Amino acid sequence: MRHYGKICTLMYDLDKTVVPEEDLTFYLNYVEEANGPVLQPMVGTGRFALPLMEKGFKVDGVDASADMLAKYRRVCKERGYDANIYENTLAEMELPELYALIFITSGSFSLIIDDEEISRSLVNVNRHLLPGGRFVFEVSEYYDAHNFDHHWNSKWLKAPEGEIVLQSVIQKDQDRSSDIVHSLVRYELIKDGKLVDTEFLEFSLKCHNNGGDTLKALLKEHGFEDIIYYNSYDKTYDKDRKGFNLIVECRKKQ
Ligand SMILES: C[S@@+](CC[C@H](N)C(=O)[O-])C[C@H]1O[C@@H](n2cnc3c(N)ncnc32)[C@H](O)[C@@H]1O
Repeated sequence: MRHYGKICTLMYDLDKTVVPEEDLTFYLNYVEEANGPVLQPMVGTGRFALPLMEKGFKVDGVDASADMLAKYRRVCKERGYDANIYENTLAEMELPELYALIFITSGSFSLIIDDEEISRSLVNVNRHLLPGGRFVFEVSEYYDAHNFDHHWNSKWLKAPEGEIVLQSVIQKDQDRSSDIVHSLVRYELIKDGKLVDTEFLEFSLKCHNNGGDTLKALLKEHGFEDIIYYNSYDKTYDKDRKGFNLIVECRKKQ
């Protein structure tokens, strides 16, 4: 149920077609500075990786969903991009190369909600970095946890072939002091007024730094240093700014 399936991928593709210029420029600067191999885990449909490849960079990708990766694979093939694409989780990936930059966009790291899996994922990212290599990722912050509209909403869109893709979200009643927001997302594919397929995604989001800065300590414990926080793509941090992911930049300890 945690799997991003076919209808979810279709919705993602219709809804999030173009990455805003500011977001892309933020990651482009890291890719340019990396001066070495680049990996984007939780790459999804490749909406960040593809425009970076377009600019001449090679961005390898990892994702747990075969359906999301299918789009990235197809476009890479069509355009002749030479990226290595792996289907796996962050915690389990076992890649043949070490990277100068590993980056995870759009708060996707918050999709890992289990503390033990978070720990294994950080160990694995660290293991796949070259000495001094950079790790840049985004998470949801605690104050944001119950402002769910910021993350998801119910909507419908029309696919180019005329089908309707419907996404409805039900947030589970919960303890509002919890770090984890649980929701169930229902995807429906409607053709000629008839429901032709349905799919569910159990969507949970871990919101970090509840009651203090625990993330920095966690990163240090897992072999990262030079940790910097931003909450804007202009590389600033404003503690009063709400409704934006926490962007974390750090390095593998030398
Ligand atoms: C909301 S999508 C975002 C994709 C991409 N980061 C972007 O900004 O377009 C989240 C992606 O994370 C993937 N994912 C979720 N948990 C994962 C994990 N533990 N390891 C690898 N991929 C994961 C999902 O399959 C999905 O493709």
